Amino acid sequence: MPDFAYDAVRYSNFPYGQTHPDRLATVAVLYGLHPPDPFTARVLEIGCGAGGNLMAMAAATPGIRALGVDLAALPIADGQRAIAEIGLTNVELMHGDVRDIAGLGEFDFIVAHGVYSWVPPDAQDALLATIRSFLAPRGVAYVSYNAEPGGYFRRMLRDSGLWHARDVAPGDPAAQAEKARELYTFLAKHRVSTADTYGALLHREVPPLSDAPLYRLVHDDLSEHFSCIWFAEFAAHAARHELGYVGEADLYGLRTEMLPSEVEPELWQLAGGDRIAFENYTDLLTARHFRQSVLCHEADAPAGVEPLPELAERLHWAVLPNAEPLEVGLLADAYAELAPLAGRTLDFATLRERLGADAGDLSRALLDGFRRERLLPHAGALVGAMEPADRPIASPLARWQAAGAEEELTSLAYTTIRMEEPAARLLVTLLDGTRDRAAIRAELRTRTGLELSESDLDNNLRELARLFLLLA
Ligand SMILES: C[S@@+](CC[C@H](N)C(=O)[O-])C[C@H]1O[C@@H](n2cnc3c(N)ncnc32)[C@H](O)[C@@H]1O
Repeated sequence: MPDFAYDAVRYSNFPYGQTHPDRLATVAVLYGLHPPDPFTARVLEIGCGAGGNLMAMAAATPGIRALGVDLAALPIADGQRAIAEIGLTNVELMHGDVRDIAGLGEFDFIVAHGVYSWVPPDAQDALLATIRSFLAPRGVAYVSYNAEPGGYFRRMLRDSGLWHARDVAPGDPAAQAEKARELYTFLAKHRVSTADTYGALLHREVPPLSDAPLYRLVHDDLSEHFSCIWFAEFAAHAARHELGYVGEADLYGLRTEMLPSEVEPELWQLAGGDRIAFENYTDLLTARHFRQSVLCHEADAPAGVEPLPELAERLHWAVLPNAEPLEVGLLADAYAELAPLAGRTLDFATLRERLGADAGDLSRALLDGFRRERLLPHAGALVGAMEPADRPIASPLARWQAAGAEEELTSLAYTTIRMEEPAARLLVTLLDGTRDRAAIRAELRTRTGLELSESDLDNNLRELARLFLLLA
């Protein structure tokens, strides 16, 4: 068995929309920064695994140039093979240790998802030092990590799982995780009570472990290195590397509305007006487990905490999928204008012209729509066909995934779409721009005996377009 745990037991290879430069630039704009153009950016991912996240970015955003680095050689080799097979020319993967990478040049966006809390302290330090030295002027970075106080609960279960697996021979992380899961399953079934605080805690914390796939236990909660940190300590660590805090990449985690409104002024008082302290107190109030922090060069760090309304003008706007429409007012009108685009964006000027609205009123309404979880801002237009073309083309990454019989396809909006039906996946593989609808139907008939009517095919293609799987 290979020595390095990530070579021995493979990790998932999902895309994370919250790490896309579009999202990081959006957060930066909301805090008044002037980030580089995320659609033509140079992007570095540290701890990229087999590159699934970077491949999603590269397929959806042909203008970027992306490089991924990871210490695990086998996932890197898998990712390199996949990139060659798909034919992506704007992404590369490299085997390397964050503690000794050098000479890679400058990057506009640098991301490290799920790395900081799972490496030893010298690698944590090297991660922030690498970001500091490779981040271009005005560049934006993303680092996620286990946060306190949620970490206290997770460590309790980690320690008990590792103790339960104490007799498993060293060097077999999968067997250790399997043994620990036995305990989690037992705890999930036989909590003494849910009526008291402890029972309620187990009710919340145990199922994510008892129901987790083995690789997740091996590499997340039972990993050799597993640290949790208070936000204030993380911010201090970043500051030692001359990196400043911008906000959270989970856009709705940005909103102080998560707190009851009367609490906020008191909390600011408690924090003595210090933003880092304020954030730390909110973690305590909300039992936060995880943070996805956006960083910048210290000199660029934002002064204010609330987005200024005029910043709405620099963003592109879309509806949040499955949001409840609003009844009256300018926000309701904006929502109604954007809803038929099903997640595609309109820029501020176009939206304003269509609504005949005053710029200030519309800015305030859009930010209100964001706070009320109706609208999602973007730093630029999202690609992805609204209507299927005569000869539709599916994202090359999704086509490759579907051809490999994977049930999870990656959309051009950097999300994972589960497609269990083999015929639906076959349809995706046929959409390479060479076939019109008659040819698609004929090919489906030959390969599966399936007789798809013209209107059924049309509905299927529209659904694929809605899911951001077809190129514009
Ligand atoms: C929990 S996984 C996260 C992978 C991926 N970012 C994701 O979220 O799916 C942590 C990754 O960090 C990599 N890693 C650990 N130590 C590293 C180091 N010193 N230098 C570079 N990568 C490292 C591991 O090989 C692994 O792929």
